[in-house]
Amino acid sequence: MLSKLLKRPVIPVIVIEDANDAEPLAEALLEGGMDVIEITCRTAAAGEALARIKKAFPEMLLGAGTVVTPEQAQMCIDIGVDFGLAPGLNPDTVKLFQASETLFVPGVMTPSEIEQGLALGCKLLKFFPAGAAGGVGMLKNLAAPYAPLGVKFCPTGGINLGNMNDYLALPVVSAVGGSWLATQKQIAQKRWATITAQVQEAIETAGNAT
Ligand code: 3PG
Repeated sequence: MLSKLLKRPVIPVIVIEDANDAEPLAEALLEGGMDVIEITCRTAAAGEALARIKKAFPEMLLGAGTVVTPEQAQMCIDIGVDFGLAPGLNPDTVKLFQASETLFVPGVMTPSEIEQGLALGCKLLKFFPAGAAGGVGMLKNLAAPYAPLGVKFCPTGGINLGNMNDYLALPVVSAVGGSWLATQKQIAQKRWATITAQVQEAIETAGNAT
């Protein structure tokens, strides 16, 4: 799973209010060439949305985001997600995912958190909130001591079409994530063609990252 995820440079971070939107949303993403999705556990609809996408689109790399409690972790594991992410690093949550052999990407923002992640065996880490924490310059400096250990980062928070390639240009960045690819409002308004166009544009832009 890790190697599959490392091949996807852009990950849409989704906040979904109505699970009925899950299938058309996944279809809109796939139509634009995007076969990875992160559904955040921020809404009551998240679990059902994850389960529906897993059933209807098994070809999609299905991620659960904002997994901040062991209960949410267990729900996502039971659904059978391909990977999970969190804004922070909770050892209990990390261990639950590890026990189920499901990839988990905990969030970090400091050297000590990176080392805590490493101690737990996590080499792919989410850098969050990327923009507010200092952006590309911060990540470059934060990651440097850990690059020899093969630590990679998926920054999210404040990333958009205009700055994504600045992050992707860093060798330690494997992918960027963001909600701009399919916003909560666009999903609620069922603007599927807009979402397809946005992900197409992002994939093309990522192709130009140096
Ligand atoms: C996340 O959960 O990864 C972030 O909230 C996404 O941040 P963004 O909304 O700034 O893209």
